[in-house]
Amino acid sequence: MQKPVIRPRRLRQSVAMRNQTREFAVHPSELILPVFVREGLDEAQEISSLPGVHQHTLESIRPVVNEAAELGVGGIMLFGVPAERDAIGSGATDPEGILNRGLRVVAEEAGDALTVQADLCLDEFTDHGHCGVLDVRGEVDNDATLERYDEMALAQAASGAQILGLSGMMDGQIASARAALDRAGFHDTVLLAYSAKYASAFYGPFREAVDSQLQGDRRTYQMDPANRREGLRETRLDIEEGADIVMVKPAMSYLDVLADTAAFSEVPVWAYQVSGEYAMIVAAAQNGWIDRDRAVAESIVSIRRAGADAVLTYFALEYARALRG
Ligand code: PBG
Repeated sequence: MQKPVIRPRRLRQSVAMRNQTREFAVHPSELILPVFVREGLDEAQEISSLPGVHQHTLESIRPVVNEAAELGVGGIMLFGVPAERDAIGSGATDPEGILNRGLRVVAEEAGDALTVQADLCLDEFTDHGHCGVLDVRGEVDNDATLERYDEMALAQAASGAQILGLSGMMDGQIASARAALDRAGFHDTVLLAYSAKYASAFYGPFREAVDSQLQGDRRTYQMDPANRREGLRETRLDIEEGADIVMVKPAMSYLDVLADTAAFSEVPVWAYQVSGEYAMIVAAAQNGWIDRDRAVAESIVSIRRAGADAVLTYFALEYARALRG
């Protein structure tokens, strides 16, 4: 036996030593809570595939915003679930549509305490469930969709959204929305580009959360999970088009893409720990197969370690509470 000269374990010998040499720590302001507001509900309703996550009424989102603010969470990302849908997703651009109404409530409640963010995509509002409008052949029409996104951007900005999360994966969506906002004087509205967004099975529970009407899949616009380089291409294009923040989504199965992105991006890089990632941890913990608190902390610090400056996660309140101790 030769005694080791170099002993990495020295730095792990006590809690204090580990605390002193830890490389990454998550701060509540780096967490963003996705919230669902649903039209026509009388009271908040739990989403069965996302235990602990609710569809909210315009009233029941208020205490959620307040608790997030009180815990120092960085922002709220709002999704709307309309009562009625049509081919072009009219509810998305109607100032009285559920998402725009919800944004006004969140903005009023949030004040300056946290950022107000809106999902900018048509899938919740279309009767076919696609993220864009369809052409005569039934295919998603990229450029016609950009016109709808531009209108949606104006409606959301006018309703108080400070950060617009363009999640539809249409080509040119950032440049188009930026120009529309600037023309209307919304120079300060921030664009968060879901840049490397993959066609993922891990969005499964989200479908229930927004009562998705989709038949089929989104593979003609969201990316192929096998593609790493293409994630960088999409991100570079979004930055060139004027994205203020870029995002990789989902998070845990795409940490390589996230690390690549963080290595070259000069704008903040966020990641979305999506519904299926949440559901897997919760389900395994409910079965007693993993320790929930540790799995939550480990999953989120891993996403930070890979390069995310902030993380959208359904665990935002729970984890912010845990960080407070
Ligand atoms: C599109 C959108 C989706 C998610 C966020 N924005 C659905 C999709 O792309 O299919 C999924 C988020 C999650 O799974 O938590 N509006």
